Amino acid sequence: MPHQFIIVTKQDGYTLIQLNRPEVLNALNIKLMEELVDTLELLEKDDEVRCVILAGNEKAFAAGADIKEMADASAIDMLMRDQFARWDKIRKFKKPIIAAVSGFALGGGCELMMSCDMVIASETAKFGQPEINIGVMPGAGGTQRLTRAVGKVKAMEMVMTGRMIAAEEALRWGLINKVVPVEYYLEEAKAWAKEIASKPPVAIRLAKEAVLKALDTTIEGGLEFERKNFYLLFASEDQKEGMNAFAEKRKAEWKGK
Ligand code: CAA
Repeated sequence: MPHQFIIVTKQDGYTLIQLNRPEVLNALNIKLMEELVDTLELLEKDDEVRCVILAGNEKAFAAGADIKEMADASAIDMLMRDQFARWDKIRKFKKPIIAAVSGFALGGGCELMMSCDMVIASETAKFGQPEINIGVMPGAGGTQRLTRAVGKVKAMEMVMTGRMIAAEEALRWGLINKVVPVEYYLEEAKAWAKEIASKPPVAIRLAKEAVLKALDTTIEGGLEFERKNFYLLFASEDQKEGMNAFAEKRKAEWKGK
């Protein structure tokens, strides 16, 4: 099916998804999010895809949920649309997702970025939760994920003032992984995706699950979960291959099982 608001490019081992509503700074309307989630569902089933990059364009990753689409909605309209429920599927995506961010990552755009596993940003990236300026508050995880990522006082600052922070500050705060000049941010994300795509996929999947578990469980529960996933990997052919290859001083060949 051709997409209206995203561009999907399959590369060797990973897939690049680019948000494509440049005239409105990639504002996230319902149709764009439907296309994104449907695409992720397909990519999850495709064994050739081991990593995903989510990007916008140089000017905007995404400037938030589409304000004009929501402006006249009643509370019951919002409840029945339940549009942010769809976003849960991104959070539950089992393969690694790297956000490649340039320009604005605001409101739902910042929240979408925080749903990803790692973030490569350009020096021009700007992050913010400006919903307060339009009479609302973050609704797609901003109060929860941002607080876990940067801590209470900085999350309060962003949510209460609606101020944008620059890439270097976001890096210092631990919101993103790396900042590079704008001409390289997508290339850098591709290099990370290639590297991750070259790793054993079952171990990658269980490792992602375990890291995410740390965000919503006790240390005791998290350590149990991690240990079970670690033991489970000893049922994989890739574990035998990886450890034998190490002992035989050769490069491992992953089967993904
Ligand atoms: N929704 C709909 N349209 C948007 C949009 C959004 N979130 N952000 C930008 N646009 C549109 C503008 O309306 C404008 O369209 P027109 O040319 O038809 O007027 C176009 O994109 C370009 O935007 P600007 O002219 O405003 O560009 P700028 O460079 O002067 O300013 C900006 C850029 C600071 C990002 C400004 O556009 C802005 O403040 N955007 C809104 C940011 C925002 O409030 N995001 C939160 C949305 S609510 C949300 O996301 C809820 C949630 O938790 C999920």
